[in-house]
Amino acid sequence: MVIDSPKELERLVHEEINKGGVGVNNSGKFGKYGGKYVPETLISCLGKLEAEFYSAIRDAEFQEALATALKDYVGRETPLYFAERLTNHYKNDKGEGPELYLKREDLNHGGAHKINNAIAQAMLAKRMGRTSIVAATGAGQHGVATAAACAKLALDCTIFMGTQDMQKQSFNVSQMKLLGAQVESVEGSFKDATSEAIRRWVGSLDNSYYLSGTVVGPHPCPSMVREFQSVIGKETRRQAMEKWGGKPDVLVACVGSGSNAMGMFHEFLGDEEVRLIGVEAAGFGLDSGKHSATLARGDVGVYHGAMSYLLQDEEGQILWPHSIGVGLEYPAVGPELSFLKDTKRAQFYSVTDQEAVEAYHKLCRLEGIIPAMEASHALAILEKLCPALPNAAKVVVNVSGRGDKDAEMVINRSNQ
Ligand SMILES: Cc1ncc(COP(=O)(O)O)c(C=O)c1O
Repeated sequence: MVIDSPKELERLVHEEINKGGVGVNNSGKFGKYGGKYVPETLISCLGKLEAEFYSAIRDAEFQEALATALKDYVGRETPLYFAERLTNHYKNDKGEGPELYLKREDLNHGGAHKINNAIAQAMLAKRMGRTSIVAATGAGQHGVATAAACAKLALDCTIFMGTQDMQKQSFNVSQMKLLGAQVESVEGSFKDATSEAIRRWVGSLDNSYYLSGTVVGPHPCPSMVREFQSVIGKETRRQAMEKWGGKPDVLVACVGSGSNAMGMFHEFLGDEEVRLIGVEAAGFGLDSGKHSATLARGDVGVYHGAMSYLLQDEEGQILWPHSIGVGLEYPAVGPELSFLKDTKRAQFYSVTDQEAVEAYHKLCRLEGIIPAMEASHALAILEKLCPALPNAAKVVVNVSGRGDKDAEMVINRSNQ
């Protein structure tokens, strides 16, 4: 089914939202996006995964075990922190401006939001009787989270990572190895590592489990990862109510493939007064050809088993993405975000490498918090956003991870 009319897309988004629950139709599509574009051999395997996922999320015992792991192992809930000095920094001459809050996913075990999903899926794999996990990682945060979850649950773990990313994020490679994972290098970057991890999984479907780190891939991966990350938005709603007795006015998250953004946004999709803002990586600039701004500059196509916006050339060949935030370097984006773009429920902007580095420094100096370079993209949009917002508007920025992994690169860049 191809839906081109904006009105029809709008109707569908409301239908998805009103359904509550995990909010995706039976074929795994968000409007025309998503789906299962995979070889026949994988269909039954994805079917089993889907059945187990829906059964697990309705199973009180699984939910209780997951809630305990999130609390005692991951360290949830993460604070919703009022960033007072950052707020003051963005006030205008009259002393007016929005109030800025940070959702501190950087304080999770492992240093990023990735563990919310990794621990849940590792538990699901165990429930399915799988003994070995394969995964792909870009910045290494998903690799570290998966390796940790596998150690805790006594699962074998193999992480695929691009050679360039291994060099840039060598600290995370060491952590994965310390946590007992086998790290396999793949010529290229995250997209190539993902292809290789899927190939390995397909070679051993009965024993192994492909632990997807973000909201891309064939159904049920986008809905499943989104569901396991939605704890971010649910906590945010509760914490906002406690802190100021209402909802946030604006939510801001960086968009690589989209898991931290969807984790934060999904809870608020039905609250139309809450503005949802995703920030992509403009790299060296949108016209440079060196960026990862898929929603800004991509076209619709199929990649890694799903239909979504993609960075591709006129012949449909995938273009090499670039960002200083390694975790943002992916040529596609989650299908649900493509749907939110077309229906205009969310707005998307992009910031350059340089703007992200400036935001990284700013948060270090003003709040004593070192943000991941990926999250620095979300912080960087505040420069343009804050002057346009009403006084005292409540803005929540998802600090998706901590930035010690990027410190050396940032310091070297400053010394050049
Ligand atoms: C800290 C952090 N934030 C964001 C991302 C981007 O991923 P996603 O868009 O799935 O949240 C990554 C990916 O590695 C990451 O490590």
